[in-house]
Amino acid sequence: MESNRYELHFAPLQGYTDSVFRNAFDRYFGGVDAYYTPFIRIEKGGFRNRDVREIQPERNSVAELIPQILPGSRDEFCRLTDLVAENGYASVDINLGCPFPLIAGRRKGAGMLPYPEQVAEVLGAIREYPEIRFSLKMRLGWENPSECVLLANILNSLRLRHITVHARTGKQQYKGAVNLEAFATFYEQSSHPLFYNGDLHSSEEIGRILQKFPLLRGVSVGRGFLSSPFIGKEFKENVTFPEKQRMSACFSFHETLFSAYSEVLQGEIQVLNKMKTLWEYFLPESDRKWLKCIKKAQRLSQYREAVEKILTV
Ligand SMILES: Cc1cc2nc3c(=O)[nH]c(=O)nc-3n(C[C@H](O)[C@H](O)[C@H](O)COP(=O)(O)O)c2cc1C
Repeated sequence: MESNRYELHFAPLQGYTDSVFRNAFDRYFGGVDAYYTPFIRIEKGGFRNRDVREIQPERNSVAELIPQILPGSRDEFCRLTDLVAENGYASVDINLGCPFPLIAGRRKGAGMLPYPEQVAEVLGAIREYPEIRFSLKMRLGWENPSECVLLANILNSLRLRHITVHARTGKQQYKGAVNLEAFATFYEQSSHPLFYNGDLHSSEEIGRILQKFPLLRGVSVGRGFLSSPFIGKEFKENVTFPEKQRMSACFSFHETLFSAYSEVLQGEIQVLNKMKTLWEYFLPESDRKWLKCIKKAQRLSQYREAVEKILTV
């Protein structure tokens, strides 16, 4: 497998992959060709301050960052794209994959997939931004995995740099089996470079999916980069890093997040909650006793003791 032929992208994870996280991940683990921001959307008629702050170039040090927008209409598409462009970006990723009922129920994210006319209308605004490179993140459908095939013609007619397909339906949320058969049908119909996304947890699994679909431009990995942060580099360099080296990088990564979040969050409980969230996906193969201590920690001292047991070998 010529692993360098393929790109590895870090799928956005709202609540996890903020600028602090992405910068630290890139510094200690790497192996990622592009990062995405979690989606930016219009809420109560405006932008959320946090979203605007998070895309500021001075906060972001990764080489390739693609801000992601979640538009429900053509007007929202233009306002969100303008915001991203004003911050100096020439790439925008469009989210047609979010499954949260409050969003999908308003025909946004994956909730737009059953409505080809709305997709054509909203994404038609791509033509108004010749200077921006757009990409798309989507699922197989909202309820039916053939919805993506019905959209293929519309999508093929648009100027898109690539499409990332999370091989589930919106209704499946993040659980249940990925549907490789339905993905294969879309893979055959799409004229755009594609990225496969969904449940890749090791460099072997990345290799297998690229072998099965050799015309992919690459793969997008979300939770797998949290559970095994080295798989990108291991896949690209065809190496396995020794345990000691991995744990030492994980420790430095953790310390960077811990001190950055301690600076911006007020109080012990907030920092504790933020760090506990990380461990919902981070290094699940660690000693269960200490993972449980992290979950139950009421004080930072208890939390730190458990983290040190896990990360210092
Ligand atoms: C907590 C969480 C937050 C997510 N936030 C986003 C998001 O903001 N934008 C997006 O396109 N996908 C989002 N996703 C979906 C992931 O990017 C990815 O498509 C999905 O988790 C499947 O890939 P994985 O199995 O490699 O994680 C989110 C997923 C999770 C679990």
